[in-house]
Amino acid sequence: MNRFDDLLSHAAATKDRQIRELFENDNRATEFSAEFGGFLFDYSKTSIDETARALLLALAERCGVAEKRAAMFAGAKINETENRAVLHTAWRNMAAEVSVDGRDVMPEVRATLGRMQTFAEEVRTGRFTGQGGAITDVVNIGIGGSDLGPAMATLALSSFADGPRCHFVSNVDGAHIHDTLKGLNPETTLVIVASKTFTTIETMTNAETARTWMAAKVANPAAQFAAISSAVDKTAAFGIDASRVFGFEDWVGGRYSVWSPIGLSLMLAVGPGHFAEFHAGAAAMDRHFREAPFTENLPVLLALVGIWHNQVLGHATRAVLPYEQRLARLPAYLQQLEMESNGKRVSMDGADLPYNSGPVVWGEPGTNGQHAFYQLIHQGTRVIPCEFLVAATGREPDLEHQHLLLVANCLAQSEALLRGRSLAEATEIQRKKGLTGADLERQARHRVFPGNRPSTTLLFNKLTPFTLGGIIALYEHRVFVEGVILGINSFDQWGVELGKELALALAPVLSGESDGAGKDGSTRALAARIRALRGA
Ligand code: F6P
Repeated sequence: MNRFDDLLSHAAATKDRQIRELFENDNRATEFSAEFGGFLFDYSKTSIDETARALLLALAERCGVAEKRAAMFAGAKINETENRAVLHTAWRNMAAEVSVDGRDVMPEVRATLGRMQTFAEEVRTGRFTGQGGAITDVVNIGIGGSDLGPAMATLALSSFADGPRCHFVSNVDGAHIHDTLKGLNPETTLVIVASKTFTTIETMTNAETARTWMAAKVANPAAQFAAISSAVDKTAAFGIDASRVFGFEDWVGGRYSVWSPIGLSLMLAVGPGHFAEFHAGAAAMDRHFREAPFTENLPVLLALVGIWHNQVLGHATRAVLPYEQRLARLPAYLQQLEMESNGKRVSMDGADLPYNSGPVVWGEPGTNGQHAFYQLIHQGTRVIPCEFLVAATGREPDLEHQHLLLVANCLAQSEALLRGRSLAEATEIQRKKGLTGADLERQARHRVFPGNRPSTTLLFNKLTPFTLGGIIALYEHRVFVEGVILGINSFDQWGVELGKELALALAPVLSGESDGAGKDGSTRALAARIRALRGA
């Protein structure tokens, strides 16, 4: 017995039905889509029928989504394994009253946001300068949630950028910081060290490298550093003046932190006004998530579609396919958001999950992906549910003809996935080309598309700061709902710890200071070969 049994039975009973048969109901597109705040979420091109939807909605009720949602917004410590509240939403709902451990946290949130705005304006207007004059470039050094959110959003909103150029360095690979700093002038560069803990090895190593780079040209490099961290003792030890340190508390998880001071680089790029619109879009989605009935609730519906595909039908991955070049980093952002949140093998109480954890999330923008991996999506043996995102209107008025082509490609892909191309159709096409006999049959078989492959489409008018805020909040809440249904803690990330610990222990083995006793044979042999190649 598990919580998906009724859904599994229904899926088995309807497994031979084609999705396109469901469109015999002329109203399916309307009945299996939901709208809010300029978003249309169409899930009609999935195999979810009325019974499946009713069972999924009942599942959400049964699993206590409404109660857990209330607990999250009320500041309860729902991140039980870290004994923390989950209140990233407080950073985008300025009018809210939020108390943690009986203390109203909003005055501090508002004060920090005010300091960020002042600092951003100072930098953007040239009142805050580097040793060589106005700041031309900002380098955000961070990793995971301290990188992916602002990097994704800064690219997404690049058509609104009117501040200094923003660059993002995350990888401990020296190539990343080397190549980023190469073209920059240290005298007009601001470095932001973004690390909640201010201990993350990649970030701190890159921060030291940036300081050395700046010190070669700038008398007081620390004056051109800002920090985003709650660890004020560590930021002070690094030499960063408290006036340029922006903190946030432990109830904001790393992958949920783009709304907090972690978004400073975005604010510098697009300005506090656009940053406020980004917040407003997310706040509107928060209200919708809290108030809309489940049948119309976008985050709940996205989550239920995810559960249907992964836990019920057994599709292990989902592709996120934004038809929007500026959302190129969205799949990477969602990989962290979804996989770090819901990639857990035990439930809240520590018992093994009797079903799959969250799916593998991957993707690339269209149309590029079409010329790379869509072959497998259309004709591979595995089914990959696809999630298309597309704006009706582009941001380049003189290039609308290109945007129309982009949108046409997006719709064409979901249409092709749904309908496919039968052997009879493929044969007819080949026959018209003059093929006959065994060759005709063989060639036709390669040109068959099985179809019946599920997809959803999230449609909006234009990519704006408000829309982007809504999209990110939508996905955050989707992850939350899926996590509740799976009965797991979506807010810890213990799975990243072991590798970090072992990397620290391996560094001396690679440098030859330690012989690696106790390591497995493969790791010892690889380390020995690396030492030999490096002449260590
Ligand atoms: O990889 C684990 C993780 O803790 C992420 O959750 C987080 O976003 C990232 O490391 C960076 O952490 P910090 O902001 O403390 O440097």
